[in-house]
Parts: sequence; structure tokens; C-alpha cells
Amino acid sequence: MNSFMSWVGGKKALREEVVQRFPLYYERYIEVFGGGGWVLFHKPPGRDFEVYNDFNSLLANLYRCVRDKPDLLMNALKYVLNSREDFDRVRLALRRQRTTDVQRAAWFYQIIRYSYASALTSYGSQPHDMRANFLLIEQAHRRLKDVVVENKDFEKLIRQYDRPVSLFYCDPPYHATEGYYQNIGEDGFTEKDHIRLRDALLSIEGKFLLSYNDDAFVRELYDAPGIQIEAVTRLNNIKQRYDPNCQFAEVFIANYDMTERQRAATQLNLFDFGQEI
Ligand SMILES: C[S@@+](CC[C@H](N)C(=O)[O-])C[C@H]1O[C@@H](n2cnc3c(N)ncnc32)[C@H](O)[C@@H]1O
Repeated sequence: MNSFMSWVGGKKALREEVVQRFPLYYERYIEVFGGGGWVLFHKPPGRDFEVYNDFNSLLANLYRCVRDKPDLLMNALKYVLNSREDFDRVRLALRRQRTTDVQRAAWFYQIIRYSYASALTSYGSQPHDMRANFLLIEQAHRRLKDVVVENKDFEKLIRQYDRPVSLFYCDPPYHATEGYYQNIGEDGFTEKDHIRLRDALLSIEGKFLLSYNDDAFVRELYDAPGIQIEAVTRLNNIKQRYDPNCQFAEVFIANYDMTERQRAATQLNLFDFGQEI
């Protein structure tokens, strides 16, 4: 299923590739840098215990309201105006005004939906019917029913949920694009944070799968025994307008064999094929 929101750095285009690289067995799924939750919403719900986390408290609040108070949230969104004046007023109010959790969630969702490229900074000047999102919000509400929503820095979260049966999917701000995450509700991400993440992940008992941009700094960070690095490319959404074949290079990094799920599926297919003969 789809997420109920777009988000800078969202993994909509890569979500199937990510899920295909999950290990075959885990009991806890922890999405450490949740954002728009594209992987969580794409992943079929199982009997695993699921956690969505993001350090942006406005996002975590929005997720909690979608899970627990969807009707109140949709009521608050029913009559919002798609106008520059309202956008600027709500953006200011989010920074300055104390209000209820539902009103904050509605304001934040309005800013996501009406900002240019969902970047939260400037008014998008695009037609957009807010009510068209209500079905997505209802679907997300049902999917999030048993999902724990956290609002922690990744290091504390990883320490708290680490077990031998845990799978951490990490999609941090990409190296050298961290500036995108210094907006409302966001603290920014520095080189020190990339190193802190590496140190946290290399000492866990559970498994981790990481998606990053393919660059020398990232490859050097994870050049360690037992760590797999796999390069993938996908069409570059931003530059596609000018160069239709422009590719964006990314890497998957894991502390386990990322091919085990695909190999198991192939074996199963061969087995089915053998039965038919
Ligand atoms: C690339 S986005 C994740 C996108 C997400 N996978 C999706 O599909 O929409 C990175 C996210 O990390 C969050 N973040 C930044 N610093 C963090 C920290 N110290 N701990 C946890 N999350 C953080 C940002 O708020 C942002 O939502």
C-alpha cells in the first residue's frame, strides 16, 4: 500500500528493492528513520512487532494522530485553505503556538501537502484537494493499528530495541544532503551523526539493512568485516525532467546475506516447476 504522505528522501521508488533484501526471519521490525514510512507501508504486516521512529516530533505526532484519532484529524483538515496566506500563517503557528496534538498534526499535514515538492519551505501553488487524502489516512490508520510510534534519536532507539531477532531498517538523511532536514521540527544531521550511526549499527546483536547514496565516505565508513555492500541504481526523479535516463546511484548495506530471500523464492519456483513436470 501507499503512504499517506510524500516526504523528502521518501523511498517510494525503492521500496520493493528494500523489502526483497529483508532477512527471511526476524521478530521485530524497527524503521529507525521513518519519514513518510514508504517501506513500512509496503511491507506486508506479519506477526512481527513493528516500530516506526522519527526524531522529528511533528512527524511522530502526526503518525500517532493517524493511528489513534483519524476522524478528529480529518475533521480538522476538512476546511483548510489551499492559499499562500494560510500556508504562511500555519507555518508560523507551528513554530510559535501551543495547541492540541490533533491541531498540530493537521497543521503539519497541511504544510506537507501544500508545500513545493513536500519540502515544507515554500508554498507549492498547485491545485490539491485535501479530501482526496482521506482514504489514504483511513488505510494508514488501519495499517498502523499495532505499530509502536517512537520519537527518539536513532542511537537511543537502536539500543532500546536491539535483540538477536531485531531487524533495523535505516534510511538516514543521505551524506551531503543533510541540509534538507533542517526545517520545521528537524534538527539536521552531521558527519558526526553518520559516524555515530555506523558505530551503533556495528555493535548490535540484531540485523540491520541500510540505504544510502553511493559515495566514497559511506563506502569507507562501512568497510568492515562481515558487512555486505550492494550498489543499485534507479532513475533520478529530480533530474529526469532534463535528462530522462539520468540514474541515481545508491547502496544497500547489511550485516547479513541480503540475497537469502530472493534465493529462497527462486528455489520455491524451481520446486513448483519440478512438480508440474
Ligand atoms: C531519508 S528520510 C527517511 C525517508 C523514509 N524512509 C521514507 O520512505 O519516507 C530521513 C528521516 O530521518 C529523520 N531523522 C533525522 N535525524 C534523525 C535522528 N537523529 N534520529 C532519527 N531520525 C532522524 C528525518 O526527520 C527524516 O524524516
